[in-house]
Amino acid sequence: MGVMRSVLLAGSESVWLREHAVRWRFVRGATKRFMPGERLEDALGAARELAPQGIAAILTHLGENVADEAEARAVADHYIRAQEQVRVAGVDAEMSVKLTQLGLDLGAEACYANLRRIAEHAATVGRTVWIDMEGSAYTDVTLDIHRRLKQEGHSVGVAVQAYLRRTNADLDTLIPLGAAVRLVKGAYKEPASIAFPTRAEVDESFFQLGARLLGAEARAAGVFLGLGTHDPVLIRRFEAHVAEQGLPKDGFEFEMLYGIRREEQQRLATDGYRIRVLVSYGDYWFPWYMRRLAERPANVWFVVKNIFGR
Ligand code: FDA
Repeated sequence: MGVMRSVLLAGSESVWLREHAVRWRFVRGATKRFMPGERLEDALGAARELAPQGIAAILTHLGENVADEAEARAVADHYIRAQEQVRVAGVDAEMSVKLTQLGLDLGAEACYANLRRIAEHAATVGRTVWIDMEGSAYTDVTLDIHRRLKQEGHSVGVAVQAYLRRTNADLDTLIPLGAAVRLVKGAYKEPASIAFPTRAEVDESFFQLGARLLGAEARAAGVFLGLGTHDPVLIRRFEAHVAEQGLPKDGFEFEMLYGIRREEQQRLATDGYRIRVLVSYGDYWFPWYMRRLAERPANVWFVVKNIFGR
């Protein structure tokens, strides 16, 4: 792992920085590139602007590791209100949630109950609720909660991380469930004992897992795949793969983050692929923002430009 990435990931876990840096004007300014604003209305506004380009949205309220049951219930209430506002706004947007934000650290049961409430409401507005995958300490319990809800008939999807060595084995359970799966490379700091340490290995794992999730067994089981990546090489590989296999362009979707590779998002929509862009909002954006910088340390230059550009 590069020095810059390690420093940025360590920064993402710093409570002091989280509490102080969000007040620094230049940091706030720099985040605008990745976040239209802190309020749900800002995210809905972005979703409305993306819609005419043929780009759908995923909305996420930033927050992690809630340590109080009332707070976790309030987060679930917020997502239910947000789903309602999405319906009223008439935009194609699905919510994506972090289980630690719904009280996972307080116990799986409380978290499950909060997520079930969101999923029950999602059914009334015809939506899927997506579950983000967090650090490896949470992988098992996240997959368990997802499986439980899925087996109860709720429309839930889950992210899996290509950098984890275990993920191919996790697909053995997810595929027969007919799961909706969001494949991502993985954004947390994990040891080489459980995660592929090189970029080439992570990229190859991503392709193999994605190809399996587009394969005959997965399609027969009703699996839906979201490919969450900005990687031009992987995107081209998947475009070639679906063409070779004679799969429809709209049988899966590409997913990217708001503000990243906008021209490519547009190009994919124009070429007939389904594409969704994840729009974040909320005031707890510091750890998330540091992980975005860690993914691409060149983005630090945007921060630097913001410091000197004022
Ligand atoms: P990677 O970072 O390897 O970059 C490949 C190339 O893409 C770069 O060389 C560059 O060309 C381009 N690129 C990438 N980032 C860029 C940037 N910021 N600006 C400009 N160009 C850029 N992670 C996780 O652990 N759990 C989760 O639940 C999720 N959820 C999630 C949802 C969605 C919709 C997305 C898109 C991503 C996630 N992630 C995630 C994050 C994911 O794990 C990963 O960290 C990032 O997507 C970055 O990896 P890429 O696959 O984009 O490629």
